[in-house]
Amino acid sequence: MNSIEQAIQEFRQANTVAVVTGAGISQESGIPTFRGSGGLWKNFRAEELATPGAFRNNPQLVWEWYDWRRGICAKAAPNPAHLVLVEMEKHFREFLLITQNVDNLHLQAGNKKVIEIHGNIFKARCTVCNEIFDLTEVPLPEIPVPCKSCSELARPHIVWFGESYDSSLLDQALKFLAACDVVVVIGTAGAVTVPLYLVEQAKSAGARIIEFNLNESEFTRVTDCFISGKAGETLPDFWNSVQNV
Ligand code: OAD
Repeated sequence: MNSIEQAIQEFRQANTVAVVTGAGISQESGIPTFRGSGGLWKNFRAEELATPGAFRNNPQLVWEWYDWRRGICAKAAPNPAHLVLVEMEKHFREFLLITQNVDNLHLQAGNKKVIEIHGNIFKARCTVCNEIFDLTEVPLPEIPVPCKSCSELARPHIVWFGESYDSSLLDQALKFLAACDVVVVIGTAGAVTVPLYLVEQAKSAGARIIEFNLNESEFTRVTDCFISGKAGETLPDFWNSVQNV
């Protein structure tokens, strides 16, 4: 492992920076993570709620669960870790934020170069015509949600267990990661294989990996510098040190 001082130096010299975020970055905004104590999957069986089969069996129940989560996300505001990423986007010549989060907080904070690989909880997609549309009203006025174009059944615009990712988004992420100087990984356990694969690819292509997390994760074996603690505290501290030359 490198020291934080080395990571700060590498970050100062970087031109091309990617950031990969997970639920941990939004934990201090009041949004529960998926795993760990109080995690969303602890109280709900994922296969009952976040799978295509679950939606086919009971679209009402799935939409109710998502509407409950939408309520939590709608009340949340970006925290200092989200705000640092807006500064980073302005600072680096080439920047890309790849998020697993569906809570919209990166866009709300002001980041523009964002790829939401798991979708967005404030969007829906028609199961018949595939139209993707915004769903801003909280709580939803009608459950299950009808498509805004054809009135057929719509579903949350989220990647569920057993579904494939949008390959054009993954291609965009992989292309960027292949040319990255530094990848910053924040608040993700690495239990989902695709984000882990993306970071491993960047590492193989020569990027340095800096990880911010409360605990070590599946990413830690490819991490060059691990910074332990709450991202809302450690990331602003790190960014201040990078800027104070
Ligand atoms: P997890 O809940 O699996 O992991 C959260 C991670 O955040 C853990 O490693 C925690 O240690 C860390 N953490 C918690 N609070 C933190 C804090 N304040 N500061 C820094 N780190 C903190 O969430 P993800 O890895 O994002 O997929 O989960 C990945 C995917 O699994 C989600 O996107 C979701 C789920 O299935 C979909 O919904 C498609």
